[in-house]
Amino acid sequence: MSRRAALSVPAALALAAGASACSAHDRPAPAGASSTLVAYFTRSGNTRVIAVQLHRELKADLFEIQAATPYPEDYEQTVEQARQERDAGVRPLLKATVPNLSGYDTVFLCFPIWGETAPPIIRSFLAAHDLSGKTIRPVITHGGYGLGDSLAVLRRHAPSARLEPAFSMEADQERRTMTQVREWLGAIARA
Ligand SMILES: Cc1cc2nc3c(=O)[nH]c(=O)nc-3n(C[C@H](O)[C@H](O)[C@H](O)COP(=O)(O)O)c2cc1C
Repeated sequence: MSRRAALSVPAALALAAGASACSAHDRPAPAGASSTLVAYFTRSGNTRVIAVQLHRELKADLFEIQAATPYPEDYEQTVEQARQERDAGVRPLLKATVPNLSGYDTVFLCFPIWGETAPPIIRSFLAAHDLSGKTIRPVITHGGYGLGDSLAVLRRHAPSARLEPAFSMEADQERRTMTQVREWLGAIARA
C-alpha cells in the first residue's frame, strides 16, 4: 500500500477509559526520582492507554506530546492535515518541551502511526530534545498496516540514542466505529 493510500485509511481506537484521567504531567525529575520518562502523543486515546499503564507500572514520569495548535477533532480533517504536513515535511510547533530531560536515562516514546510513518509532531519532538546516549523504547499503535518507516524516522532524528526494539499493537476502534455507524445509517436509508 502506498503511503498516500495508507494515510487515507481511516483508523484509530478510542479506548477512552482512562483517557481523560490523565493530562500531561510535565514535572521535572528531581534527584533520586524516576529516571524513566514516558512521552506520548495521542489523538483518539489508544496510545494514551498504554502510556498511562507504563507510567503507573514503571512509576515513570509522564509527558504528553502536544502540538501548539491542536489537531482538529474531526477525523477526516486530521487525516488531510496530517497528509499535507507529511508531504511538506512540516514540523508542527510543540506546546511544551520536557523539563530537565537530562535527568532521564530511558524514554518510552509512544505514538500512533500516521500515513505509514511517525506523526509530524514526533519529528518535532525528536528535533527539540537531545536524546544522545539515552535509551529509546518505541511504543507504537497502528490501524493494521504496520510500522511503516517510523523506526527509520527515529533512527534518523535521534542518531545517538540507543534504540530498543519497538512494542507495537493494532488499535483500530475509531475506523471500525465509523464503518459500523455508516452501515447502520445505510440500513436506515434503505428501510
Ligand atoms: C491521520 C491518521 C493517519 C493514520 N494512518 C495510519 C496508517 O498509515 N497506517 C495504520 O496502520 N494506521 C493508521 N492510522 C490509525 C492509527 O495509527 C491507530 O488507530 C492508532 O492506534 C491511533 O492512536 P491514538 O488513539 O493514540 O491516536 C491513522 C490514524 C490517523 C488519525
